[in-house]
Amino acid sequence: MKSFFFSVFAITISSLASRAQTPPATNYDETQVPSYILPDPLISTIGKPITTGKEWEAHQRPHILILFTDYVYGKVPGKPAGLHFKVTESDANALNGKATRKQVTIYFAEGDDAPFMDVLLYLPKTNHPVTVFTGLNFNGNHTIASDRAIKPARFFKKKADQTSLTDAEAIEASRGSSASRWPLEEIIGKGYGIATAHYYDLEPDHKDGWKTGIRTTMKDRLHISPEEWSAIGAWAWGLSRIEDYLETDPAVDAKKTILIGHSRLGKTSLWAGANDPRFAIVISNDSGEGGAALSRRIFGETIRNLNTSFPHWFIARYKHYNDHPEMLPVDQHMLLSLIAPRPLYVASAEDDKWADPKGEFLSAKAAGPVYRLYKLKGLTVKEMPPVNTPVGATIGYHIRTGKHDINLYDWQQYLLFAERHKSGK
Ligand code: GCU
Repeated sequence: MKSFFFSVFAITISSLASRAQTPPATNYDETQVPSYILPDPLISTIGKPITTGKEWEAHQRPHILILFTDYVYGKVPGKPAGLHFKVTESDANALNGKATRKQVTIYFAEGDDAPFMDVLLYLPKTNHPVTVFTGLNFNGNHTIASDRAIKPARFFKKKADQTSLTDAEAIEASRGSSASRWPLEEIIGKGYGIATAHYYDLEPDHKDGWKTGIRTTMKDRLHISPEEWSAIGAWAWGLSRIEDYLETDPAVDAKKTILIGHSRLGKTSLWAGANDPRFAIVISNDSGEGGAALSRRIFGETIRNLNTSFPHWFIARYKHYNDHPEMLPVDQHMLLSLIAPRPLYVASAEDDKWADPKGEFLSAKAAGPVYRLYKLKGLTVKEMPPVNTPVGATIGYHIRTGKHDINLYDWQQYLLFAERHKSGK
């Protein structure tokens, strides 16, 4: 008898171990999505329904924010003492006279030898303070436009086909290489500005990036050890520091700042928007797993995939849920609900199955009840809309044709959404 139990136990253990070693193949088959139950953001830990915005703000919202802090992204410290700014360059005749360009260094502590980030702004020329889209960029400020006055990224990574070039040549060759992701003519033309910084200024995006990023260089000043937060947390913290600057710039209406991010930086914009209520509108473009997409819906990328390829993005505890999203006390619709009652836009791309467009849509839909506490309509449709058909009210959603990217079509929808939600802000 004893040996029977022992062998059953041993088989169970060994099958669990082998399961852990071979990650399941990525599921792209809708009929193979196992059924799941989402936690209800409007039921408190003691089973009490949350029925008013007041209860939500006093108890449930702070509780859910702590759950995301403790299980997924880690802490996000506040504004450091000694934070200061230096406008290092500006030109009132940038972009053929259509915009003002400003380059600002944000120092995270007193003194000019403090850790810092470089922010690039383009503002339309008007006589009133303007609304700014704030977002981090992937490859350096100098890649977002071919404007030769933009200071090159400090942490520039040469492309594989650029090995024959010197660093300086590679930088020049990459000027404007991400311009399609930042359609400045369109944005400025509609009367909005942009503020952006290279995410590597906060933490280089690799597993050892924390050693040279702010999680190390700011640890004593922020009184937080590197493992208490994550790369996504560090990037999100940087977005709030940009907002600190915007609040001081009279050309900007910082009460209306719109946060925007694509992909891993879309995950980041959601986390920054959840933590910092100063962001008036939050947009996540193709943010996928660990962003807008539901984790309990097994389709495309999984928590295990995220934590295996990008162990630094989240805190260590999130890894315990690699194969068990159903054991997490949260799912990503609850992250979206933390944006309420502020307008939120979630976007997907048809060919970006890895990010699970349907999981992003269902998540946005499931955040709706929290908006209804404020008598606001979230997503106004029941089913996923056809491609290139934006839907929604206070929560916007579209799935556009094409691949994982952020392009003019996406921005056009965000600009329309911003126009629609302009008044209340
Ligand atoms: C990878 C990753 C995604 C992420 C994306 C990106 O594909 O698996 O989670 O969103 O990179 O940031 O481009």
